[in-house]
Amino acid sequence: MDLFEYQARDLFEKYGVPVLAGITADTPAEARAAAEKLGGVTVVKAQVKVGGRGKAGGVKVAKTPDDAEAAAQAILGMDIKGHTVHRVMVAAGADITEEFYFSVLLDRANRSYLSLSSYEGGMEIEQLAEERPDALARVEVDPEQGLDLAKATEIAVAAKFPAELVDKVAPVFVKLYEVYTGEDATLVEVNPLVLTGDGSIVALDGKVSLDDNAEFRHPEHEQLVDTSAADPLEAKAKGLGLNYVKLDGGIGIIGNGAGLVMSTLDVVAYAGEKHGGVKPANFLDIGGGASATVMANGLDVILGDEQVKSVFVNVFGGITSCVAVAEGIVKALEILGDTATKPLVVRLDGNQVEEGRAILAAANNPLVTLATTMDDGADKAAELAAK
Ligand SMILES: Nc1ncnc2c1ncn2[C@@H]1O[C@H](COP(=O)(O)OP(=O)(O)OP(=O)(O)O)[C@@H](O)[C@H]1O
Ligand SMILES: [Mg+2]
Repeated sequence: MDLFEYQARDLFEKYGVPVLAGITADTPAEARAAAEKLGGVTVVKAQVKVGGRGKAGGVKVAKTPDDAEAAAQAILGMDIKGHTVHRVMVAAGADITEEFYFSVLLDRANRSYLSLSSYEGGMEIEQLAEERPDALARVEVDPEQGLDLAKATEIAVAAKFPAELVDKVAPVFVKLYEVYTGEDATLVEVNPLVLTGDGSIVALDGKVSLDDNAEFRHPEHEQLVDTSAADPLEAKAKGLGLNYVKLDGGIGIIGNGAGLVMSTLDVVAYAGEKHGGVKPANFLDIGGGASATVMANGLDVILGDEQVKSVFVNVFGGITSCVAVAEGIVKALEILGDTATKPLVVRLDGNQVEEGRAILAAANNPLVTLATTMDDGADKAAELAAK
């Protein structure tokens, strides 16, 4: 999960990384109040999970509370690379003398951590990496050793910080690493890290990505989830432990295994062309153990999508036999009862396919149509959705 800048700022503060005061605002009036509270020059910053906000006009300096209100008025609702701004952060203005760059991230290829840092910050790091690779120090951080003051000093020297600044930035690098490990992040980035007129080091902009695999260790991260952005059906599916992605179409898809589901999407989209251009409505992988409960949960989520007109269940029995899948479908339809109203096309193949089909045939549910091949099933589902 990627965090908003204001969330990263709060985490930094918790770990003792120097940051400036910042107050979030969802309306221009709130932005004015925030600027009044902060006093002096402020900077109004779009809170979106995408880079390049400044260039897009999403970061504005405000000299007065009036300015802050006007800046928020201009920024709220703005579209930055496809992300709508719903919130701004009004931050205290910094008296910037110099801008630097620092990040620490998970280096999967090397099964290690990597720190990237540069004395020359301010510009986009991708551009710096391309145009002036020498200015960007890449230093491996051994997860077993961690990033202590000695390592931080090594990093600052490699990044070509002048001697008098090395001692100032190194302790901040250590604190940022503590954020990285303490929060189970995969990325902690500060761009820019700045030197201010009074000689202090401040993290002016932070990006943090948290490792979802470590969610269980951080119940407090739950509050950081941006519920406004989540599709309600996706949220429901996530709660049920399903691998579900909502798409913009009329044919619900259930399959087992990501590869099979992906090819089902292709085959259904292709079949849909012959039936007025109907398209897959979602991606749902029920995984290996297609129990009745999993099937019921999957169908429940898909049938809850108003756009769905028909459902195509495409399962290849492997370790889970087609008998278990067929029983799952029959029980799922029993559990759902009257809430299941849309036609289901089922194609089974693989382990115990004949027995599985026999179970569905015997159940004789009027909603269910059996298909023998993937192409037939896709065609039938598309035809039903187009009706
Ligand atoms: N609190 C602040 N006080 C003074 N200047 C600031 C402040 N915050 C940001 N700036 C200036 O605005 C520039 C851009 O800000 P910031 O890094 O937060 O956004 P960005 O880099 O455009 O966004 P992103 O990092 O998402 O690409 C900074 O390099 C800095 O010069
Ligand atoms: Mg930035």
